[in-house]
Amino acid sequence: MRVAVTRRIPARGIEVLELAGCAVSVWPGDLPPSREELVRLAADADGLLTLLTDRIDGELLDALPNLKVISNMAVGHDNIDVDACTARGVVVCITPDVLTETTADFTWALILAVARRVCEAASTVRRGEWRTWEPLGFLGQDVHGATLGVVGFGRIGQAVARRALGFGMRVLYTDRTPVDASLENKYGARFVSLDELLGASDIVTLHVPLTRETYRLIGARELSSMKPTAILINTARGPVIDTAALVEALAAERLWGVGLDVTDPEPLPPDHPLLEFPNVLVTPHIASASEVTRQRMAELAAQNLISALRGERPPRSLNWDTIARKGA
Ligand code: DGY
Repeated sequence: MRVAVTRRIPARGIEVLELAGCAVSVWPGDLPPSREELVRLAADADGLLTLLTDRIDGELLDALPNLKVISNMAVGHDNIDVDACTARGVVVCITPDVLTETTADFTWALILAVARRVCEAASTVRRGEWRTWEPLGFLGQDVHGATLGVVGFGRIGQAVARRALGFGMRVLYTDRTPVDASLENKYGARFVSLDELLGASDIVTLHVPLTRETYRLIGARELSSMKPTAILINTARGPVIDTAALVEALAAERLWGVGLDVTDPEPLPPDHPLLEFPNVLVTPHIASASEVTRQRMAELAAQNLISALRGERPPRSLNWDTIARKGA
């Protein structure tokens, strides 16, 4: 089994592939391979282990006719045209669950950092500007007792809500449908419409996948319905927010603070207008970046890939059943 890996990944992933007898070629660059480089790397590969920075579409699949499986080392899969893969019998796998808690932890890192102006305040210390204790210095927003609005109440949204219990928060959530009453009770969470959530929340946190329906879900109208004291957090995907509308809302001081681990575009250029606002904290898409979680993601991506190549049901596939049904 020949496998191409589109970047250096945690060692455990490569180990699992090699132990299964795969011949592994790893793209050595720090940046993602270009389309041509990817086609060359994976020319005779049976399986491709991809990252969210690799665009997988029909054109690429046609250039790689040997390919049987795409295993994305991410839970998000908006970089993959799954229908194009299914139509060609290419199995697509992802890595949910293993990153849920780590991503929820990081969402809270952003919430607390923005609400309490941690980065702004810390950088003044480094600049030698800490002169005295100031009664009016760096006044933030309380997190305890505030209302948290969770947009997208899947695994990660729920893990974020669970942590809110410790802060004594009121939790509102929205999704396509409500979850079971038992889960609502567990998190003390109430299902509301997106509009109600935006109008009532002190902190709004986004946890929806990027799809046609969620593209620019948070635009000018939605931003203007938020409280002027509200904080917006995004650890999902950048294009869920209309960036131009967000810049406008910030310029008009219609939001109190923003924490973004994902942006549109990504990476965000250093001269982007978003970076001019001191109340905007941007991190470079690192919510799942803990030592242990990245090893687990790599391991699961490798296990998915091997199972699919062996013709077995992978632990986490998006289209295995459909392809198996078609083949039967
Ligand atoms: C994902 O898995 O989709 C994250 O964005 C990266 O961990």
